[in-house]
Amino acid sequence: MAGGTGALGQLIIDALLLRGARVRAVVRPSTDPARVAGLARRGVDVRPADLADAAALTAACAGVGCVVSALAGLHEVIVAGQTALLAAAVAAGVPRFIPSDFCSDYTQQPAGLNRNFDLRREFRARLDAAPIAATSILNGAFAEILTYGTPLLDFEQQQVGYWEDADLKIDFTSMADTAAFTAAAALDAAAPRWLRIASFQPSPRELAMVASAAGRGTFEVVRLGSRLDLEQAIAQARAANPAGEHELYANWQQMQYLLSMFSVQSQPLDNARYPGLTWASAYTTLAPAAGTEPASLAAGPYADEALVQRLPGLTNHYATVNGIRLHYVEGGSGPALVCLPGWPQTWYSFHPVAPALARHYRVILVDIRGMGSSDKPAGGYDKKTMAQDIYALVQHLGLAKVTMLGHDIGGMVASSFAFNYPAATEKLVILDGAHPSEGLRYLSLLPAPGAFEGPKMDAQHPYVWWMAFNQVKELPEKLLAGRFQYLLDHLFAYVMLDDSKMSAFDRAVYAAHYNHPASIRAANAWYQALAQDVADARTYAPLAMPVLGIGSRVSYEYLKMSLPAVAPQARVVGLLDSGHYLFEEQPAEVLAAVLGFLQGEAPPQG
Ligand SMILES: NC(=O)c1ccc[n+]([C@@H]2O[C@H](COP(=O)([O-])OP(=O)(O)OC[C@H]3O[C@@H](n4cnc5c(N)ncnc54)[C@H](OP(=O)(O)O)[C@@H]3O)[C@@H](O)[C@H]2O)c1
Repeated sequence: MAGGTGALGQLIIDALLLRGARVRAVVRPSTDPARVAGLARRGVDVRPADLADAAALTAACAGVGCVVSALAGLHEVIVAGQTALLAAAVAAGVPRFIPSDFCSDYTQQPAGLNRNFDLRREFRARLDAAPIAATSILNGAFAEILTYGTPLLDFEQQQVGYWEDADLKIDFTSMADTAAFTAAAALDAAAPRWLRIASFQPSPRELAMVASAAGRGTFEVVRLGSRLDLEQAIAQARAANPAGEHELYANWQQMQYLLSMFSVQSQPLDNARYPGLTWASAYTTLAPAAGTEPASLAAGPYADEALVQRLPGLTNHYATVNGIRLHYVEGGSGPALVCLPGWPQTWYSFHPVAPALARHYRVILVDIRGMGSSDKPAGGYDKKTMAQDIYALVQHLGLAKVTMLGHDIGGMVASSFAFNYPAATEKLVILDGAHPSEGLRYLSLLPAPGAFEGPKMDAQHPYVWWMAFNQVKELPEKLLAGRFQYLLDHLFAYVMLDDSKMSAFDRAVYAAHYNHPASIRAANAWYQALAQDVADARTYAPLAMPVLGIGSRVSYEYLKMSLPAVAPQARVVGLLDSGHYLFEEQPAEVLAAVLGFLQGEAPPQG
């Protein structure tokens, strides 16, 4: 390891040690002794050697499997210093070399636009000519720069500045993620010449949303010019600052970095090459320390008023019924279709399907008790009381009979509605959310052997840890207030087959709604009432109305077993190309199944 006393180098060493590697570090004699002592304390074999001392460098390289450079500097370090290191590695017979690239994908950008990248190019030519295998890690920008207040994310002006394209995805990788990946690559004898990674790739527009959700304010997205404008500004700044030629991060070089960020994108990504790595998210990078009040929802991009604008024809409403104020969104005409969402989402979860449903039905998307903009009273989270809320809303709307459709917890409430108010239930559709039944009591607190190893839920042995976690009183809201994005990212990755279908915006919406302690407390109360729901289920007569159960890959087997027990004539279909969040993953298949069932299999009109 060269540059092991630097910011990135130290993290790479930590990651290597974590992987059980033995690490040797060359440090120059002038290095801060405290940092050298720190390395030695961690068991690193420290070899003092100047980069100009070929013999000492070669001796330090003897017997090592890979030389990793995290040196930082200008020509004398990146070109001259690394060339000396390369020569020593070759002389010592080291098989592999990782240069200190750790930047945007400069192979995609022409030479002459970024001074620091040109130095990497110059060294690359020497590296590729040497008899040694090489791997470069291209990680975009370090995610940490987002917290520094650059023109890209300017906290003072509360603006996200961009050049050329507000939707261009920008590569960011945290230093820790870069280090962990580099350590894995250093120990991977088969690593290819180039490895491209990114912890997250937000567009400027998405960055503004995430920064707002993370409580950093309300950001305006502002075009600062074209790429050509930026190139011209760089030329002027460079001409005005000749001393910057000798500075690693001169003002104009920082502008050059921004130009690179807005010019290239790392793809395809190699993030998945090494299992077990975790990746920072934009939210976690920007989220304030725990305990900080989350951003107000009152007038931001995630407020209901802003969200309904995205769904033409739908409007916001409130009704005080059953002693609480419920929020609902309504649109379309035809028979009434009441749609109830689940955890950890809001009415907005129906956005991929609601406009199409509204072409045939009067859709009523309800934030159930405790959710989104509806009230969060101290109690009443058993599904019987929550169904009472919905029945009171249905009466308030003057509707005699409605079709109920619910997902997840919403499916439980919809089922409870059908059990308790069969005369008011035309048909029932539930997606991954059967009414709580005795079977819930047998969910294991421990995962089946091997069933919780990978990033995805095991459909045969689903391990639903949140069923237990959400039973805990008071603690989850302390842990998750202002940090709910952690839970969302984990959950979506775990229970969706393709969690890229849950957009950054959708995540920001749900984070904004669940970041408040009261929201977390109320949503968890849905789970804390499950035992009562199971008891209530014993008193219900089987359902006689038409019932459709739609199960995703992770719920189909359970639904197939449990639904016919309470609705003997129920039809159960599996949408096995989808994980739990079916509206986002397979909206067309959901619509085909729902409309087919509601319209007696006749193809939908319009
Ligand atoms: N993608 C991005 O956004 C981004 C951002 C920042 C950095 N980087 C890149 O990440 C890599 C590591 O940067 P860093 O921020 O970790 O750098 P850093 O903290 O400044 O550390 C630099 C390391 O290089 C060593 N070094 C510098 N000049 C040397 C010389 N003449 N002889 C011997 N050793 C020398 C330093 O040793 P001493 O302890 O003796 O000084 C230190 O170990 C570099 O390639 C840098 O360009 C990328």
